[in-house]
Amino acid sequence: MTRLGGSTVLVTGAASGIGRLLSLEMARRGARPVLWDLSADGLEALADELREIGADPLTGVVDVGDSAAVAVAADRVLAEVGAVDVLVNNAGVVSGMPLTELSSADIERTFRVNVLANYWTTKAFLPSMIARDRGHIVTVASAAGLIGVARQTDYSASKHAAVGFDESLRVELAQSAPGLRTTVVCPYYIDTGMFDGVSTRFSWLLPILAEDDVVAKMVRAIEHDRARLLLPPLLYALPLMRLLPARLFDAAMDVLGVNVSMQGFVGRPEGAQKSPQ
Ligand SMILES: NC(=O)c1ccc[n+]([C@@H]2O[C@H](COP(=O)([O-])OP(=O)(O)OC[C@H]3O[C@@H](n4cnc5c(N)ncnc54)[C@H](OP(=O)(O)O)[C@@H]3O)[C@@H](O)[C@H]2O)c1
Repeated sequence: MTRLGGSTVLVTGAASGIGRLLSLEMARRGARPVLWDLSADGLEALADELREIGADPLTGVVDVGDSAAVAVAADRVLAEVGAVDVLVNNAGVVSGMPLTELSSADIERTFRVNVLANYWTTKAFLPSMIARDRGHIVTVASAAGLIGVARQTDYSASKHAAVGFDESLRVELAQSAPGLRTTVVCPYYIDTGMFDGVSTRFSWLLPILAEDDVVAKMVRAIEHDRARLLLPPLLYALPLMRLLPARLFDAAMDVLGVNVSMQGFVGRPEGAQKSPQ
């Protein structure tokens, strides 16, 4: 079990969406939140909310894709609040365009934030976790880390990398630091605004997930040291579906509407955040 009460949790991409709700939920359970994001205003608003429920947050404006910035910010955290018990690699970006329309800057940004950031943050906090043989690394990947989706060549590949990062780290730590835990989270679309405009064909089978429901399940998965959380449950059938020849697998995904899901994608307009609830 990972106890959140009395622990220090660091959430990247904390100023909106899943990161924001997760920070609030973990603080309600007695965790001390450390919040990193690009948005100073978003962090300050969340810090105010957290103080209202009695938490004592530490905030940092950090570009998690920048290894030097992460190293400096991590030193500050270690000096001011000590070792981190739970690190949630949540910050993420999406481009939502066909490959021919993606610029090299788009592709590099996706890999900096969705992949490389996991290395910079985890390398910064892992030594202190290993020294105490205690700690939990959470990787927020995606269902797109388990299947390729049209208009997601950069996003889906980056999330496949995140899933591979978690799995390799998990088995590596089982050999060298058995007290540590990892959890990878692979949700289908969530109503945070990041994927505004996407559609689903069979909402009873592949629903657009509610962010508070996802966060409640994430908290339970972390507390129970679950290695994997896939949402909705249909995703657990993917390994079986993968036994199909590629053409049949693609046809099955087409029937489910997965490869037209991004056709109406608009994403979150610059600067717009889902209002606090
Ligand atoms: N929403 C979905 O449908 C969905 C589905 C599956 C998985 N996920 C994953 O879940 C995670 C959270 O997504 P969300 O829906 O909550 O999205 P979100 O509301 O857009 O939150 C992402 C947060 O990451 C921050 N961020 C982006 N680049 C950053 C950087 N370089 N350094 C620090 N922070 C950065 C963003 O800050 P700014 O807003 O200031 O840029 C934002 O606050 C992501 O990893 C996403 O890929 C989302």
